[in-house]
Amino acid sequence: MRLPAKVNVLLIGSGGREHAFAWKIVQSKRLQKLLIAPGNGGTQELGSNVEVRTTDFGSLEQLVLRNNIHMVVVGPEEPLCKGIYDYFRDTESVQFIPVVGPSAAGAMLEGSKDFAKAFMDRHKIPTAAYRSFSRGTIDAGYEFLASLKAPYVLKADGLAGGKGVVIAATLEEARRELGAMLGGKFGKAGERVIVEQFLEGIECSVFVATDGESYKILPTAKDYKRIGEGDKGPNTGGMGAVSPVPFADEAFMKKVRLRIIEPTIAGLKAEKIEYKGFIFIGLMNVGGEPQVIEYNVRMGDPETEVVFPRIESDMVDLFEAMALGTLDSYRLEVSPQVAATVVCVSEGYPGDYVKGLPVSGLETACGKCLVFHAGTTVIDGQLVTTGGRVFAATSLDDTMDAALRKCYAAIDKISYQGKYFRRDIGKDLL
Ligand code: AMP
Ligand code: GLY
Repeated sequence: MRLPAKVNVLLIGSGGREHAFAWKIVQSKRLQKLLIAPGNGGTQELGSNVEVRTTDFGSLEQLVLRNNIHMVVVGPEEPLCKGIYDYFRDTESVQFIPVVGPSAAGAMLEGSKDFAKAFMDRHKIPTAAYRSFSRGTIDAGYEFLASLKAPYVLKADGLAGGKGVVIAATLEEARRELGAMLGGKFGKAGERVIVEQFLEGIECSVFVATDGESYKILPTAKDYKRIGEGDKGPNTGGMGAVSPVPFADEAFMKKVRLRIIEPTIAGLKAEKIEYKGFIFIGLMNVGGEPQVIEYNVRMGDPETEVVFPRIESDMVDLFEAMALGTLDSYRLEVSPQVAATVVCVSEGYPGDYVKGLPVSGLETACGKCLVFHAGTTVIDGQLVTTGGRVFAATSLDDTMDAALRKCYAAIDKISYQGKYFRRDIGKDLL
């Protein structure tokens, strides 16, 4: 099977990641028409936004049929964990429309940390030692915590919007947190809690595209999760990113490939889990040895905003190869340039923030820079904020320093009330 020479693509999601997907997709020589559900203020310049929820599979099916869509590309984890791949595979009217993304069983690698840890154990993939607890075994949890050294890592099993990981500095705090999590702090997501060994090192993200048999390693990236400069304050969805990561050199990536990527793909295959999508592996470099912190079953945000601009080969060809199982013969071409992105957020984020604030200055900011919209919409012709993360300003250059300078110059031109961003993205790597 092969798709037509020109294809109509439905992209699902509404963040900066999806704006970056859309931006790459429209550069494809294969594209005829792009729809984005629901999209944002940036994607509407590249295709048609359609007001359909990402988990309303029945409406997405109708959208696909009405618009003669040839391929569905999924950005965020929620529809994947809820089984969008399986829905299309098992629904007669759309069963031949490929969905780029894993099956619900594959999405468990992100949807259940307990599943992911057990999967890594089964396939001998290096990760922090752990145990998992439920309300009925909380006393064993307290005992396990007492056997560990500070700091303590606790993770809600299910999806918790990026907030489900707590690093407790003292045993006291860890005990309190275990009680709170199992007591319902994260709802259903926290019915099971993973307690694991703290890994000391420096993080990076590795992105893999797979068709379930072969794989391609996309550019590496490092993101900056904390709201404050110097990695202080609460975790966010991500405040910036750079690609490539200098320490992820050939020797390190060889270890990642042999110890992590290949056993992961072989493990999925051995367990008969359908996976034609992206695997985002969060890694800790512990003295030169890679250990898995987490799997995500999609691209990262804002990592996509630095990874995709470095990919020079055709994106629709890539998606097709992933979906149809021909990735082996796809040639991935990557730019040697450095990419950086800096995210502008709303005042108050990651806590409460005001929405609907008018944005200006975008026209002049975009010159040497790509400004990906993360949380914007257009109301009565006026661009306004809708999200905690509002924009990601991305630049490419020969050095990280030069790329970052262009990002900051672009951000200076964008204004909305309460604009906040970190001025130290990439500094730890310079
Ligand atoms: P996650 O939501 O799984 O990405 O975790 C959030 C952050 O917690 C990670 O990016 C790490 O900085 C940190 N983290 C998670 N697990 C560990 C661990 N075992 N040791 C040290 N830090 C961790
Ligand atoms: N930037 C981290 C994530 O996408 O989960």
